[in-house]
Amino acid sequence: MSKYSFDEIVSHLKSSGFVYQGSEIYGGLSNSWDFGIIGAALKKNIKDLWWKVFIETNPYNVGIDSAILMNPKAWEASGHLKGFADAMVDCKECKSRFRADKLIEDTTSLTVEGKSFEELDAIIKEHNIVCPECGKANWTNARAFNLMFKTFIGTLEDSKSTVYLRPETCQGIFVNFNNVLRTSRKKIPFGIGQIGKSFRNEITPGNFIFRVREFEQMELEFFCEPGEDLKWFEYWEKYCYDFVKKLGISSDKLRIRPHAKEELAFYSKATSDIEYAFPFTDWGEVWGIADRTDYDLSQHSKYSGKDLIYLDPETHEKYTPYCIEPSVGVERLFLMICCDAYDKEQLGEGDERIVMHLHPAISPIKACICPLSKKLSENAAKIFDELVKEFPCEFDETGSIGKRYRRNDAIGTPFCITYDFESQEDNCVTVRDRDSMEQKRIKIDELKDYIKERIEFK
Ligand code: GAP
Repeated sequence: MSKYSFDEIVSHLKSSGFVYQGSEIYGGLSNSWDFGIIGAALKKNIKDLWWKVFIETNPYNVGIDSAILMNPKAWEASGHLKGFADAMVDCKECKSRFRADKLIEDTTSLTVEGKSFEELDAIIKEHNIVCPECGKANWTNARAFNLMFKTFIGTLEDSKSTVYLRPETCQGIFVNFNNVLRTSRKKIPFGIGQIGKSFRNEITPGNFIFRVREFEQMELEFFCEPGEDLKWFEYWEKYCYDFVKKLGISSDKLRIRPHAKEELAFYSKATSDIEYAFPFTDWGEVWGIADRTDYDLSQHSKYSGKDLIYLDPETHEKYTPYCIEPSVGVERLFLMICCDAYDKEQLGEGDERIVMHLHPAISPIKACICPLSKKLSENAAKIFDELVKEFPCEFDETGSIGKRYRRNDAIGTPFCITYDFESQEDNCVTVRDRDSMEQKRIKIDELKDYIKERIEFK
C-alpha cells in the first residue's frame, strides 16, 4: 500500500539525523539503534504528547515512574518467569536460531497463532521448510526460549542474586496500586500510566526499529469496576485511535483489529490492536488495547500476600478492580509516524524534495529563520532569539534559500521564515508553509502567535 519502499524511508531516517546505527564505530551491535539529533527530539515530543493527552489532560489518570529492576517475585506473579517465552528452532547445520512461528509464516501462507510446539514441528517438516541462512532442512525440535534479560544484583552471580530487566512497564504499575490509592485522591475508575524502557531478548528482531530488544513503552493501566470493563475497553480503544488520527496518520493505512477468541490471553476478555500498513508487511501492530480483567492485581495479591483491592467509599463494597490496558511502543509509534510522513515530490525539471509531513506538534524544529543575505543576519538573529524562547527554532544563513527550504522539509520543520531587504522597511517576514509551500507576509510582531497557534495538537 505504501508508495515508497521501506529501504528508501530507512535510508532517509539514517541520513537525516533521525536514527544512527548503535555502536557504529565498533561495527555496530546487532539490532541496536541510537536516536540522532532530529530523532531524539521527535521521540521526546511523541512521549511528551502522550503524557499530556493520556495523563495531564485526562481527568481520570495519574502518572508514575517505576524502577526497571523489580523483585523477581513480581515476574513469578505476572507469569513471565514461566510463560514469557517464544518457540524457537535451531538449524543444526549452521546453528542459526529462529522463532518457529515467524519461520513458518514467512515461508508459507499459514498463520500459526496458538499452535503447540509439536504442531509447529510437524508443520516445519510437512512443508519442508529450509533454513533461510544456509538452505538446509535440518532442525531441532521447537523449544521454549524465555525473552527476559537476566542480570545480577550485588557482587555475587548466583540464582539468589538474579534479577531481570523488565519486559514490560505495566508490572511496575500494578505493584504500586496501593501506593497510588494512598497518595492520590483517586476513586475508581482511574488510570495509572508510565513511560519507560523495556527489554526483550527477541529471537527475531528486525524491520529496523519495529522489533528491537531495548525499547520504550507508554502504558496505561485503567482500573474500573467489574462489569464496567467492556464499556471502558471501547472508550480507550477509541481514545487511542483518535490520538493516532489526530497525528494525521492516513486513514487507509490504519485499522483496528479485534482479536479472535482463540487469540486472547487466557485472562483477557477482549483485545484489539491498532495496526498500520507498514511498507514491509501487510499490517503491523502498533498499539494493543486489552481488557486484562482482575488477573494482574489478583496475581500480585496472591504472590505478595498484600491485598490489592478497592473499598468503594460509597457502597463499602470491596472488590478487585478490572483493568483495561492501552500499551504502545515509542519506537513503533515513531516508525509509523515517519513511514506515514515521508513523501517525495517532483517540483520541476530535475528538482525534487523529500518532505516529512510530521504533525507540527511533534516536529523536532518548529521554525527555521533564514536571512536572505548574510548582511541581514543581525536583524534576523533578533527574531530567532525571541522565537527560540517559545519553541525549538534553527537559524540558517548558509546556502541558497531553496537549499535551506529542502533541508528543513527533510526533517519536517513546518515553517521557514525569510528575513529579506524589505523586512527592514515593513517589519514583515515571509513565512513559508512546509506542506503547501505557500508563502505569506506576516508582521514580525505577530509571528510568535502565528506559529504557536499552528503547532498546537488540536
Ligand atoms: N503490557 C502489555 C504488553 O507489553 P505487548 O503487546 O507485548 O503488550 C505492547 O507490547 C506494545 O509494545 C506493542 O504493541 C508494541 O508497540 C510495543 N513492543 C512490544 N515488543 C516490542 C519490541 N520488541 N520492539 C519494539 N516495540 C515493541
